[in-house]
Amino acid sequence: MRRFRQSAEWRLFRAFFSASPRLAIVWWSLVVLRGLLPAAFVVAMGVLVSAVQHGDSLAIPLTLIGVVFIALQALGPVHDAVSSNLGAQLSAWLHDQLMYACVRPPGLGHLERSDLADDLSAAREFDLGISGPGLVVSMPNIGGGFASFAGGIAQATLLFGYRWWAPLLLGGAWGSTHHFLKSASIWHGRTTDEMVEKQRRAGYAYRLSVESPAAKEVRLFGLAGWIVGGFSSLRRQLLDLSWADRRLGARSTTYAIVVVGVANGLFFWSLGRDASAGHLALGALVVYAQAAVGASALAFGEYDWWLRTSAQPVPLVLDLATRMGSSGALSSGTRSADALPSHEIRFEGVRFGYPSGDRLVLDGFDLTIPAGTSLAIVGKNGAGKTTLAKLLCRMYDPTAGAIRVDGVDLRDLDLASWRSRLAAVFQDYLRYELPLRDNVAPGGAPDAEILAALSDARADGLAALDTVLSRAYEGGRDLSGGQWQRVALARALCAVRLGAGVVVLDEPTAQLDVRGELEIFERLIDATRGATTILVSHRFSTVRRADRICVVEAGRVVEVGTHEELIELAGRYRAMFELQASRFDVGDLEDGDVVSLVEPA
Ligand SMILES: Nc1ncnc2c1ncn2[C@@H]1O[C@H](COP(=O)(O)OP(=O)(O)OP(=O)(O)O)[C@@H](O)[C@H]1O
Ligand SMILES: [Mg+2]
Repeated sequence: MRRFRQSAEWRLFRAFFSASPRLAIVWWSLVVLRGLLPAAFVVAMGVLVSAVQHGDSLAIPLTLIGVVFIALQALGPVHDAVSSNLGAQLSAWLHDQLMYACVRPPGLGHLERSDLADDLSAAREFDLGISGPGLVVSMPNIGGGFASFAGGIAQATLLFGYRWWAPLLLGGAWGSTHHFLKSASIWHGRTTDEMVEKQRRAGYAYRLSVESPAAKEVRLFGLAGWIVGGFSSLRRQLLDLSWADRRLGARSTTYAIVVVGVANGLFFWSLGRDASAGHLALGALVVYAQAAVGASALAFGEYDWWLRTSAQPVPLVLDLATRMGSSGALSSGTRSADALPSHEIRFEGVRFGYPSGDRLVLDGFDLTIPAGTSLAIVGKNGAGKTTLAKLLCRMYDPTAGAIRVDGVDLRDLDLASWRSRLAAVFQDYLRYELPLRDNVAPGGAPDAEILAALSDARADGLAALDTVLSRAYEGGRDLSGGQWQRVALARALCAVRLGAGVVVLDEPTAQLDVRGELEIFERLIDATRGATTILVSHRFSTVRRADRICVVEAGRVVEVGTHEELIELAGRYRAMFELQASRFDVGDLEDGDVVSLVEPA
């Protein structure tokens, strides 16, 4: 019983009720009704034959046959429509479960585990149709199969009227075919590593060809043939794998034929003997003979395959939510972060390695940032700057050490309350395909604040607040890389206007032209005055304007101080600063700019 309750099929049935209780009830009622009608038809035929034999009126049996026949014909299409609808609802519900599973965990760990990514690819198969049909297609087949199976049960039940053992014999024989032919309906290999990897690659090839970010490189590097060829060859391999797994075994087919043949032989021999001995009326003989034929609907059929193929991804989807929940879990504290920090943010001996990585990114990282000041973080690619920003936003927790805000460990703060104190622009900030207004204030803000934030980011006049920032929408428009970056900055500045006290800017000006960067930085400093600002940048013209600068190397702070102090120190910072200054093509700039970029140490 426990095994049954954990089976994919059982969980699929339960999911019907979660997706749409009303449709599920209608669907099962139709299964029962469509199952009873063939038995009613068989009985009506018996009554008709009996009436003919005894010369009784045929009106009632003929009317009964007519009504049952019409109901049988009419209910099929109705059930198909209900099935498709239920399939669509189920598909939507499973999508919701998957999306919540990905979005709900407060941390990021679950999105970076490759085993969970594989399971996610396999789980989405209920709808993708890469290795099996989607639910909207499967459900009418399952509904039809169930109705005919229910018909088999009802007709086998009629045989109790003949002999107690008859339904057991025939029902058992036809039922045993499910056992013998099971291997033809279960696709064992569907969730093997090979399948899942091919599914993932096929999905990737598909996205590369249909989504616009890849369009430029696909053309420039002539990748179209490779992508489409790769996709179709993967699809073919997936289909081959599925068919190879579904072969009917010759031996088990023979067993099934023998069992069914012997059982039917015994039954019809007994029925014939009783009829010829005069123990059975003609009407009853007609009923039992037809019911025995009808009981064959209990046999293994194509719907077994439809059912198992549709049920297979369901446990994957439902279990993924639990597994992702535990990998992306971060326990929230209870202390409010209102008005924090008023004193300082302190990293104390922070060690951190990514769950999916094999080395420590931060190893004994110590740093204090006084509240209300700005700190720039510099360091080579891969030094761990973005990681620091993510830890501060509590996307992960340190493996050892702590981040304290006014002395309180981040883990003791209420997570939502802390995040509401933060405004951040990440290196890979999102470009929402939404109106400009929502790009600046995804959580909503008065238009006046949005316009002011846009102006602070020197992004006024880019578009009307209602303009969707994507050409894919009517009346929408595209922005350049630098324009997008200004919008992202405006998003952070708007959050500051609404009360955020900590601003994290990870390469906020990397895509701006030199003059734009200089201009915007002055404004940034003004707009974030009073907030604690952490700025990651490779541009020293920006970095030097921060109150303090910290150089990160090998997971630690190697230098920290003001620009002047670090130049004086003549260490890493100065070396990097001078290298960048000397590389600048001063010919492109006007005098004022050159002076502010390359200042003699
Ligand atoms: N999600 C992740 N999973 C595993 N490793 C990661 C992940 N993100 C970053 N890393 C690794 O952690 C290290 C630090 O990355 P991080 O993004 O913090 O560097 P960074 O200093 O911001 O570099 P850049 O200047 O290029 O932005 C790198 O070695 C990187 O490969
Ligand atoms: Mg980075």
